[in-house]
Amino acid sequence: MCGIVGYVGRAEAAPILLDGLRRLEYRGYDSAGIAIVDGDHVETRKCAGRIADLSKLMAENPAAGHYGISHTRWATHGKPTDQNAHPHFDESGKLALVHNGVIENYQQIKETLLQEHEHHFASETDSEVLAHLVGQIYDDSAVGVLDPRRHKSLLVEALRTALQQVIGTYGIALCHSDIPDFIVGARRGSPLVLGVGKDENFLASDVSAIVAYTRDAVYLNDFDLVAVERDKFEISSLGGERGNHSISKVEFTAEDIKKGDYPHYMLKEIFEQPGSVRDAMRGRLSLEECTAKLGGLNMTAAQLRDVGRVVLTGCGTALHAGMVGEYLIEQLAQIPTEVEFASEFRHRNTPMTRDTLVFAISQSGETADTLGALRESQRKGYRTLGICNNVASTIARESDGGVYMHAGPEIGVAATKSFTSQVVILNLIGLLLGRMRHLSTAEGTRLIEALESLPEKIEEVLKLSDTIKGIATKYAEATGILFFGRQLNFPVALEAALKMKEITYLYAEGHPSAELKHGIIALVKPELPSVFIAPDDAVFSKNLNNIEQVRARKGPIIAVTTESGAVRLKGIADDIILVPDAHDIAMPILTVIPLQLFAYHLAVALGRDVDKPRNLAKSVTVE
Ligand code: F6R
Repeated sequence: MCGIVGYVGRAEAAPILLDGLRRLEYRGYDSAGIAIVDGDHVETRKCAGRIADLSKLMAENPAAGHYGISHTRWATHGKPTDQNAHPHFDESGKLALVHNGVIENYQQIKETLLQEHEHHFASETDSEVLAHLVGQIYDDSAVGVLDPRRHKSLLVEALRTALQQVIGTYGIALCHSDIPDFIVGARRGSPLVLGVGKDENFLASDVSAIVAYTRDAVYLNDFDLVAVERDKFEISSLGGERGNHSISKVEFTAEDIKKGDYPHYMLKEIFEQPGSVRDAMRGRLSLEECTAKLGGLNMTAAQLRDVGRVVLTGCGTALHAGMVGEYLIEQLAQIPTEVEFASEFRHRNTPMTRDTLVFAISQSGETADTLGALRESQRKGYRTLGICNNVASTIARESDGGVYMHAGPEIGVAATKSFTSQVVILNLIGLLLGRMRHLSTAEGTRLIEALESLPEKIEEVLKLSDTIKGIATKYAEATGILFFGRQLNFPVALEAALKMKEITYLYAEGHPSAELKHGIIALVKPELPSVFIAPDDAVFSKNLNNIEQVRARKGPIIAVTTESGAVRLKGIADDIILVPDAHDIAMPILTVIPLQLFAYHLAVALGRDVDKPRNLAKSVTVE
């Protein structure tokens, strides 16, 4: 959700900033811009469109200089136009600022700047108002002969004073043409990381932007300000106290975020699932004790035994994983479990008992709604744990403990491998809580075996990619697609429909199979295929009834099923996607992967931009 990159060092800033923006493009891609200080003035290039458009602009009209800031945008206030693209400038034209987040009281600040200082605004954005406010405060204080040392601290103070007046969220980077080799950053609610190099330093929304240059990072906290020079940096709080932050090693390399031979990140990440699923359970299963070991939960055996209720919260794909988790935890541990939209949880009075354990599920660990839910739950005094992929993320850092996914960077905007990792982890949690109660060693062993056999079975599913491509191409003319499943496969239907909507832009919905006859059947027609997720399990014959109901109304049927299910569906389903047989708890992982591939191949057949679907951005850091 908007990406920021800043650089100060000895190298030319432009190629580093552009390279960083390309790596952050998944965060937003409706406009982009760069500001580089060249001697005594700021050179800026910005445009609506992708980073490729900005690169073209830079190639036609290069900007030279050794420090600067840049931005890739996902519009919140103001349409994606050249004018609204960041960086934005203050009234003097010397201060350039990029911003990720929302300034809620920008109208009020703008009014004051218009009335009291007759400022001129070039865009419709809240961010430009912030640039003007910081610039005005700085200009009021920075009178007299230019003294770089004094003016550096005046610029930091101006930002601090401005941010004290601001209501909202921000990740910010700014520079000023009067103050050489100096950039300033700040964060509240939108991530910002400092990359520490040799004779050069970086600011970025995400380490993936800078990992090619340095793996030493300082993750800023909310209300941190950072003054960055070539060979030093200084962190302070919004209140003015000096910060004391340690440098961490980024756990992945630039190699890990390359697309390799895959045409899209999404396909690469789908194919990474045998490994990511293995990594989600690595070292966490004990065959000896027939349970899971999750030390990161920071809970004693007695505390785990006393959990009386579980709340799982998240958004989008993470919420769907939570819905699988609800079935798993209730089935394995018999603990009443609720799934809450993170965006709703915070604003409603969810009944909680004293023994409620809350999990915030988030790949990025930065989703504003999920972070809000985590904070609200902690404010009420509940133990709130994170299930995150990004280890340095805000949710990972603020939660009372948790379980990392270890899925590696997920760049494709449509989440794939994070879903299967989340489902594995929820299985581990169900197993652990179950074994603290009545779950037998025999059943514990069966569950462990089911989980351990998953990577091999996923490999088998991935071999179906070409077959699935054929099926997807056959349905490229469809007006929409319905997905149906029961029990643990109902959330898979929701997730499959979400993938389909996101990357093909087709109408798609997921439903519990039995809901069909309560209304949805009115939609059934030859142009609208129905996908049934129907492995041969305890509810197979019920699914079969629903499949027959669709068939009787000439709706095309695609079935995701197991071998014995396929025998019974022969002559009934138009297309069959065969997945390996598995324990019920492992099935959602095996049934979702072919549907990720189905959405992917259909999107490619329709000529969609799979990794950058329209209107979307990964990591939604605004509400
Ligand atoms: C769907 C998708 C989104 C995210 C949601 C939560 O493909 O990517 O629905 O799942 O925005 O994101 P995280 O997991 O980062 O909190």
